[in-house]
Amino acid sequence: MKYLLTGGAGYIGSHTAIEMINAGYEVIIVDNLSNSDEVVIDRIAEISGVRPAFYPYDVSNKDDMRRVFSENEIAGVIHFAGLKAVGESVNKPVEYYRNNIDTTLTLLEVMKEFGVSQFVFSSSATVYGEENQPPYLESMPKGNCSNPYGWTKSMIEQILTDAAKANPLSVVLLRYFNPIGAHASGLIGEDPQGIPNNLMPYVSQVAVGRLPELTIFGGDYDTPDGTCRRDYIHVVDLAVGHVKAVEFAARNSGVEVFNLGTGTPYSVLDIVNTFERVNGVPVPHKIGPRRAGDLQDSWADAAKAAGVLGWTAERTLDDMCRDSWNWQSKNPKGYK
Ligand code: NAD
Ligand code: WQD
Repeated sequence: MKYLLTGGAGYIGSHTAIEMINAGYEVIIVDNLSNSDEVVIDRIAEISGVRPAFYPYDVSNKDDMRRVFSENEIAGVIHFAGLKAVGESVNKPVEYYRNNIDTTLTLLEVMKEFGVSQFVFSSSATVYGEENQPPYLESMPKGNCSNPYGWTKSMIEQILTDAAKANPLSVVLLRYFNPIGAHASGLIGEDPQGIPNNLMPYVSQVAVGRLPELTIFGGDYDTPDGTCRRDYIHVVDLAVGHVKAVEFAARNSGVEVFNLGTGTPYSVLDIVNTFERVNGVPVPHKIGPRRAGDLQDSWADAAKAAGVLGWTAERTLDDMCRDSWNWQSKNPKGYK
């Protein structure tokens, strides 16, 4: 069965491509390479033994997407493609709304033309906003997002929900928590352009000597060690969650929301200390001021995915730190 992965050359999409292939699916990737490298397709082939069909198209180009759907009998779509840098979205809101929403609308239109009904979407824990307290439950009302990126996720959830009311769609909204780690082979991993915004790539790049020192954003939060807590999840566990979501979409119609997290929070200092311990490398760090817009705490209630999808994250924080370093130390400059 063929599944289309938009943004499948990216960090989460490439790991999901491997787990989908391992589960017996045929994978088609559309990615305009705006935040990824074509070598990822070679690496997916090297790891899985199967080369996915690859189209270097923009998902918002309807004619190109029609070509993909006409050349392949696609059963469903996992929509990863999107811009994802929170800070950049504040400075380029129109680009973020245009890209993230246009790609979704184009996909919905072309899927309707070709009679494709299964749609799995990369949403984010950010839609819970500041109003809710963790652990976040799928049944909580969504909150206000502090940035345009987050709003694109919240709006797309609404668009997909409305579309599923009017059309025979099966929509699965996956709210990711904080994906880190890499495939155990060290052949694929997270490769941000420029200075990383997210914690784990920053830690790894300090450890490998590309950056001098980590600044921890705030040491005076009301947490056991004063630093913020997050629900870090191994990207391979997250990828397996997509296979479960695809199986669910094939059996059900309407809209269903699932948190993909571990349910266990760790602090920034937990990450730094664990990374240093399991990898035996120093991560020079200092405490700096808080980052605007950061929540003190964020973690999932992971019971719904466990009960309904039969999915729970299996990999530990040690695994996440070891695999992040394995990727970074084997590829100090990423895919370049
Ligand atoms: P990523 O940037 O590595 O992957 C996204 C991919 O989409 C990139 O390869 C990029 O080239 C491609 N892309 C962007 N716009 C496109 C377009 N118009 N047409 C075709 N391809 C396009 O990001 P990721 O970390 O793998 O995230 C995947 C999805 O998960 C994104 O939607 C992101 O918002 C969401 N998400 C990520 C996180 C996270 O922390 N990484 C958390 C929650 C949600
Ligand atoms: C984690 C923790 C920082 C960098 C963001 C998006 C969210 C989702 C995941 C897509 C925080 C601290 C970080 C650094 C630090 N993305 N930190 N020094 O902010 O939880 O979530 O990425 O949907 O929408 O908002 O992740 O990795 O940026 O930060 O101290 O150099 O690490 O303050 O506590 P965050 P993050």
